[in-house]
Amino acid sequence: MLNLATFVALTNFKFNMSGNRTFTMVKPDAVADRHIGGITQMIEAAGFRVVAAKLTKLSEERAGQFYEVHKERGFYGDLKAYMSSGAVVAMILEKENAVADFRKLIGATNPANAEEGTIRKKYAKSLEANAVHGSDSDENAEIESNFFFSKTEQF
Ligand code: CMP
Repeated sequence: MLNLATFVALTNFKFNMSGNRTFTMVKPDAVADRHIGGITQMIEAAGFRVVAAKLTKLSEERAGQFYEVHKERGFYGDLKAYMSSGAVVAMILEKENAVADFRKLIGATNPANAEEGTIRKKYAKSLEANAVHGSDSDENAEIESNFFFSKTEQF
């Protein structure tokens, strides 16, 4: 017979391993331009459930930690400055096949290449100010979610 703590631990483990969660951030340009509502509306209309949400501002140091994988790239300094230039909305989203389906919904990183009907096509201004971030793997979705949210803030 499983006790409750073991049952919850096993359920959460299965939940996270099944790849049904992703992490997103509404970036400073989109927050400043009052697109939080429009973007969240597109996300929910596409079948995602918001299971964590937070309006917050990254310091340049925290922005650098979040995007550490890009630290060797020429755009890293600009990216840190931009991502700490204003408030962002961090969210965890739930849906079957969340990572891949969300990347389809947001469209190409460079909005010049984003397809019609995608979030970036509608709201992105440039390669840097591209409205939203979306995790690129289940593993990074979990890391990025835990970067912003404690376990008690994830529903
Ligand atoms: P994002 O999906 O949040 O991941 C890294 C971000 O770096 C990316 O979106 C872009 O906004 C930004 N970026 C700036 N310049 C480049 C570039 N040349 N190639 C890829 N990403 C870039």
